[in-house]
Amino acid sequence: MANLSSDFIGIKSPNPFWLASAPPTDKAYNVERAYEAGWGGVVWKTLGSEGPPVVNVSGPRYGAIWGADRRLLGLNNIELITDRPLQVNLDEIKMVKRKWRDRALVISLMVPCDEESWKDILHRIEDTEADGVELNFGCPHGMAERGMGSAVGQVPEYIEMVTRWVKKHSRMPCIVKLTPNISDIRKPAEAAHRGGADAVSLINTINSITSVDLDLFAPQPTIDGKGTHGGYCGPAVKPIALNMVAEIARNPLTRGLPISGIGGVTTWRDAAEFLALGAGNVQVCTAAMTYGFKVVQEMISGLSEYLDDKGIALSDLVGRATPNVTDWQFLNLNYVTKAQINQDDCIKCGRCYAACEDTSHQAIAMSPDRTFTVKDEECVACNLCVNVCPVDNCITMVEMPKGATDPRTGRQVGDYANWTTHPNNPSVAAE
Ligand SMILES: Cc1cc2nc3c(=O)[nH]c(=O)nc-3n(C[C@H](O)[C@H](O)[C@H](O)COP(=O)(O)O)c2cc1C
Ligand code: SF4
Ligand code: SF4
Repeated sequence: MANLSSDFIGIKSPNPFWLASAPPTDKAYNVERAYEAGWGGVVWKTLGSEGPPVVNVSGPRYGAIWGADRRLLGLNNIELITDRPLQVNLDEIKMVKRKWRDRALVISLMVPCDEESWKDILHRIEDTEADGVELNFGCPHGMAERGMGSAVGQVPEYIEMVTRWVKKHSRMPCIVKLTPNISDIRKPAEAAHRGGADAVSLINTINSITSVDLDLFAPQPTIDGKGTHGGYCGPAVKPIALNMVAEIARNPLTRGLPISGIGGVTTWRDAAEFLALGAGNVQVCTAAMTYGFKVVQEMISGLSEYLDDKGIALSDLVGRATPNVTDWQFLNLNYVTKAQINQDDCIKCGRCYAACEDTSHQAIAMSPDRTFTVKDEECVACNLCVNVCPVDNCITMVEMPKGATDPRTGRQVGDYANWTTHPNNPSVAAE
């Protein structure tokens, strides 16, 4: 079995799977059971300042999107940070850390945006012996209206300023958790880097309304006839999170800044994808909330087997795909593929035909006995048929060899050439 031990900014854990700050990490009872199930670390549910505890709604706080088999694809929540007294959390954190020395325990924090509040909370958490802090600049609802969470995370100058305060008043490793509710994720990451952050983690939840009750005429979840936007997470947000991780990993201004990848991680494969794009570890929330703590066991065995099969170490996987993320203009325009239908697997449903005929390039022929074949002279290789076909691998994209003639364009498949040198590019013609 491959060695999955992880060292993320000096914080050691037996594997790179941490639970993200959320209900699964809200209290000692949960965290200890999570460790027993095998989680390498946790980020404790966000703590706030001393004072009257936060008040959550007492009606439904979740909305969801499901697939056709009612598998949960996206989860929306209007929960706030911890609603338990600060000292209760601190006592539990200290007790848990003493019992579970080999596991990572990071404390998530969100306090008002002034230096005294940050200094105060950092001193309060010092003797818990926790491994680090994560600054929650992401929560999109409830706390943002009070000048915290994403209200800070959307202003790079604030991120830099608060990160500096944290580094000034604490020796703990500091992870800055970023909100995706921003147009260019590189800016807050750069600000965190400038402020001295040891790492960034992303993504927190995405502003969303998952559905509207068409009898009550109000967003769901509905609290006494009204609803509000919540934070979206789960498998549906993974593509957004992967892109944001890659953007930070390949940005020259943040290259090398450790990243904790979060957003829709449900299986070992999801985790491996985040790692390949540059994340040093991953954090998980919705998958644990949907399937329970034991989901980590599939993640551990799956990643371990994958690394063994590839004959690589965990550290070799981190960032392995980052150099292959590029801008569109550098894609090879001389790379040509054609769709090919495997007639033995085809169930003759006709979905590929409908999709290509109505919305792509009329490149699939249907015979009277419902045999579907690709017309190479029309196929632009868009891949739509592959994505709508209900049979896995029934349609594949086959690469044309160099030197062959593409029957659609009449041109020979040539060497690598991209848009920057293409004759149709007006800026090339102008030179
Ligand atoms: C109910 C709920 C409460 C959450 N509370 C917090 C929180 O207190 N602090 C925080 O940083 N993130 C919080 N999150 C966000 C998660 O930590 C995580 O960033 C997000 O859910 C994306 O990961 P996932 O797709 O694995 O769920 C919460 C998420 C959910 C679903
Ligand atoms: S790849 Fe696109 S153009 Fe080619 S057959 Fe499939 S849907 Fe049609
Ligand atoms: S969508 Fe797939 S299974 Fe259906 S007709 Fe096309 S190739 Fe066959």
